[in-house]
Amino acid sequence: MKNRVSNGVMNMRRDTDVLLDEKRIFKPSVETVERAHVKNWETELEKGKDFKKYWAEKAEQFEWFQQWDEVLDESNKPFYKWFVNGKINLTYNAVDRWLDTDKRNQVAILYTNERGHERKITYYELYREVNKLANAFKNLGVKKGDRVSMYLPMCPELLISMLACARIGAIHSVVYSGLSVGAFVERINDAKAKVLLTADGTFRRGKVIDLKKISDEAILQCPSVETVVVVKHTGTPIEISELSGREIFYERLIEGEPAECEPEPMDSEDPLFILYTSGSTGKPKGVLHTTAGYMVGVATTTKYIFDIHNDDLWWCTGDIGWITGHSYAIYGPLLLGTTTLIYEGAPDYPDPGVWWSIIEKYGVTKFYTAPTAIRHLMRFGSKYTRLYNLSSLRILGTVGEPINPEAWMWFYKNIGKEKAPIMDTWWQTETGMHLISPLPSAPLKPGSATMAFPGIDADIVDEDGKSVPLGKGGYLVIKNPWPSMFRTLYKDEQRFQDVYWDQIPGVYKAGDMARKDEDGYFWIQGRSDDVLKIAGHRVGTAEVESAFVSHPAVAEAAVIGKADPVKGQVIKAFLILKEGYQLKTKLIEDLKKHVRYELGPVAVLGEIEQVETLPKTRSGKIMRRVLRARENGEDVGDTSTLEE
Ligand code: WT7
Repeated sequence: MKNRVSNGVMNMRRDTDVLLDEKRIFKPSVETVERAHVKNWETELEKGKDFKKYWAEKAEQFEWFQQWDEVLDESNKPFYKWFVNGKINLTYNAVDRWLDTDKRNQVAILYTNERGHERKITYYELYREVNKLANAFKNLGVKKGDRVSMYLPMCPELLISMLACARIGAIHSVVYSGLSVGAFVERINDAKAKVLLTADGTFRRGKVIDLKKISDEAILQCPSVETVVVVKHTGTPIEISELSGREIFYERLIEGEPAECEPEPMDSEDPLFILYTSGSTGKPKGVLHTTAGYMVGVATTTKYIFDIHNDDLWWCTGDIGWITGHSYAIYGPLLLGTTTLIYEGAPDYPDPGVWWSIIEKYGVTKFYTAPTAIRHLMRFGSKYTRLYNLSSLRILGTVGEPINPEAWMWFYKNIGKEKAPIMDTWWQTETGMHLISPLPSAPLKPGSATMAFPGIDADIVDEDGKSVPLGKGGYLVIKNPWPSMFRTLYKDEQRFQDVYWDQIPGVYKAGDMARKDEDGYFWIQGRSDDVLKIAGHRVGTAEVESAFVSHPAVAEAAVIGKADPVKGQVIKAFLILKEGYQLKTKLIEDLKKHVRYELGPVAVLGEIEQVETLPKTRSGKIMRRVLRARENGEDVGDTSTLEE
């Protein structure tokens, strides 16, 4: 056990040294503070100490069909229940609620893409579209609690279909459109989805990527899917076999459906969605979120951290296939009645100024993105940023991995022009909402996610759960429940308890290493488990290893993360090949293709090395830390459990 603490810290040694030297502090401008909902950060943190009262107050902002009896039921830890016996519907609060206000004809979703196409959907139009699809889902036999999966690009139909599920109580499970056949099949079969929505393709760097082809192939292995709904999105002519009885075009499906559909009164604890993420084993985790608490958590954090007002134009670049898109491209902004910009395309196509041109064109006020994108775009210096007027920006945000101070400074100067503070938000698929983040009125330190959000009790502890001294590295844990916490891993309560709650009893173990400085600011150092962060995406080493091993040339595989200046980490693979195989160019290409086919482009391969043996424990587990240490030229540490 001991090794794990020192290991996590050791792996991140270079980063930690830089961070320890980081002493700059940036105070918010008078203007920022004056405008802010939370003018005094410290008072708000104080208020959050009575966390049940704090969250109950936030829950009052919604319209409930039935008021809850109890804010929090802690009788069966870690299976917490929030807003017990409340009845509520998410879409009623995210859509219907705005129809009687001056937001009725305001744009809810502003969609644009790399070809400059544009679609604006007002709250009233969104209401109609969601209801039509909700009715159509019912006609397909979708009932409350059934699972519906989406394998769609960043397009309005993706948001509409998620909302249509929430309208009738179906559980959505979005599969990121950058994942490929193997990952797709595994997720859809685990969820046993009844309906799948897919599209003819997605725009990417001037090309159309054929999603239908991937989905056609995958769906053959997904027996639970009764209907495949195909969105005509790119205009590429495609054939569907309506005769097969399984496929139907989206436009046909909703044709003639009434634009009224009663919102299903959902219990606070009824599931809203499942979203799969990677863990330490080969099997992805089906993170399950429920209704009311999730709504309260995401709406509150969006409002306070990004200081949302009526005149905002919100842009979260995160893909909807990940939690960032769920919580902060759709649910948070719509629950606040703001306009959310959805962009389909790469950050550097047709040129690396495209994002800045969109900010100028629409007057984006709040901009939330990932460190990897910033590092990629900062390589062009101010060549593109100075071509555009970015003065509409008031608040910036980052998510996905630690942001290095250099990238932070570039973002702050070139994009925020030293007047838009950066909210470095730490959270996870599991947490549903931001847990550690500044508020706009807080002093910032580049590279630090600052402090726990009001109502959240975060700490750094050793393996026995004892708080470590300031400045020391340890495990990041959360000591009290929060409303948008995941409730379980789908069909795997045991793993839910084992991985998150039982390792350090009584607290939530996040799986990250971190430290706190003398001002109480958190500095996140990286994962403590066998999960890589590639361009902010979570990729499990075991998943990559099993993808390798499913190739006929590979006998055994071990995978570690290798530092990369733009992506944060990329994959380094050590392979034992079967008799008669040599690692030649042709085989390397073939292996790369194979892993890409299994997992999709998220699994970015750096190097592949052929080895004769792999370091293993006596019980046969691969000791990745030994490979890591060797790779980085570091001390291998305690190898007493290493097999001879
Ligand atoms: C992991 C969660 C949460 C949405 C996107 C990723 C890392 C996330 C930060 C941050 C340092 C961060 C952690 C965490 N992470 N945000 N601001 N600073 N690290 O969600 O795929 O569930 O990954 O991302 O390692 O555990 P996810």
